[in-house]
Amino acid sequence: MEKMKAVRIHSYGGPDVLVYEDAPIPEPGTEEVRISVHAAGVNPLDWKVREGSMKGIHTLPLILGWDVAGVVDTAGSGVTTIKPGDAVYGLLNMAGNGAYAKYTIAEAKSMAFKPKTADFVHAAAVPVSCLAAWQSLFDLAHLMAGQTVFIQGATGGVGHYAVQLAKWKGARVIGTTSGDSIDFARELGVDEVIDYQKARFEDKVCNVDVVLDLIGGETQKRSWQVVKKGGVLVSTVGISSPEEAAKHGVHGEALRVHPDAQDLTEIASLIDSGKLKPIVADVFPLEEARKAQETVRSGKVHGKVVLKVRD
Ligand SMILES: NC(=O)c1ccc[n+]([C@@H]2O[C@H](COP(=O)([O-])OP(=O)(O)OC[C@H]3O[C@@H](n4cnc5c(N)ncnc54)[C@H](OP(=O)(O)O)[C@@H]3O)[C@@H](O)[C@H]2O)c1
Repeated sequence: MEKMKAVRIHSYGGPDVLVYEDAPIPEPGTEEVRISVHAAGVNPLDWKVREGSMKGIHTLPLILGWDVAGVVDTAGSGVTTIKPGDAVYGLLNMAGNGAYAKYTIAEAKSMAFKPKTADFVHAAAVPVSCLAAWQSLFDLAHLMAGQTVFIQGATGGVGHYAVQLAKWKGARVIGTTSGDSIDFARELGVDEVIDYQKARFEDKVCNVDVVLDLIGGETQKRSWQVVKKGGVLVSTVGISSPEEAAKHGVHGEALRVHPDAQDLTEIASLIDSGKLKPIVADVFPLEEARKAQETVRSGKVHGKVVLKVRD
């Protein structure tokens, strides 16, 4: 069996369980493609899985990282939408192996053509985070022009896309961040930036149409009161107290991001028309996946962290 370099885990735990090693080159099924991986996005999901938060879903050893940008290498016999040589990007099936590897397998229907104006590193920074922002704001909150959205965690992986997408839609954006990130939030287009370390947001914000909660915990608990009656709070980290939603007359929605090639095609055209910009804070080689995950784990990233797998 032919081998490739990959970063795998054989057990759950800290960064040390990530091993750069040889693994079998995978074969695509009928409706799948094998992708020659050029870059893999790094998300909080990756270290959460590494630490065991989805035990039972995966079999070990497991290749982490479900954001991919690369070139189709081999297509299954039933694939008609993309072909070998196409540059694609997308969100892989989160129940299977990921893209911290020279090759990965993707369901062809989940892959979209890479934005033409983005290199592979910037394309790999898009799928999980931008789909999470898109599906939260547009599919769950139905955000419309003229509404106000309050984004808790406006400068991270999901937040920096959510700000840009909400502005593109014509909404007013209030966002929380802190310290060094304040200027970055303004550059992204946040109309009113709140430093969550210096001010209590509930003293400054009220009656918003939508809260996008990317933080959870106490932040979510304190957020119900700032949404107007009939408004929506969407969280990417789950709704911890549905009774609070009912008490405030607010719809609480928990996002579970899913692969969607059509969303990614629309996102690619926004990127190509200059309306949406993936921001990459740090790029690491595949062998340095531990460092990349620890950077994301710090929770202090402006935008995204990406592994560059091939030159
Ligand atoms: N359910 C799903 O389908 C789904 C999909 C995607 C992501 N997620 C989850 O959504 C969460 C956010 O993901 P992400 O990629 O955006 O994370 P991230 O990139 O790690 O977020 C980091 C950002 O959060 C900000 N932040 C930290 N604490 C804050 C607070 N108390 N108030 C406001 N901002 C704060 C930081 O700003 P400072 O530097 O100023 O602290 C930093 O800019 C993660 O838990 C992730 O696993 C879930």
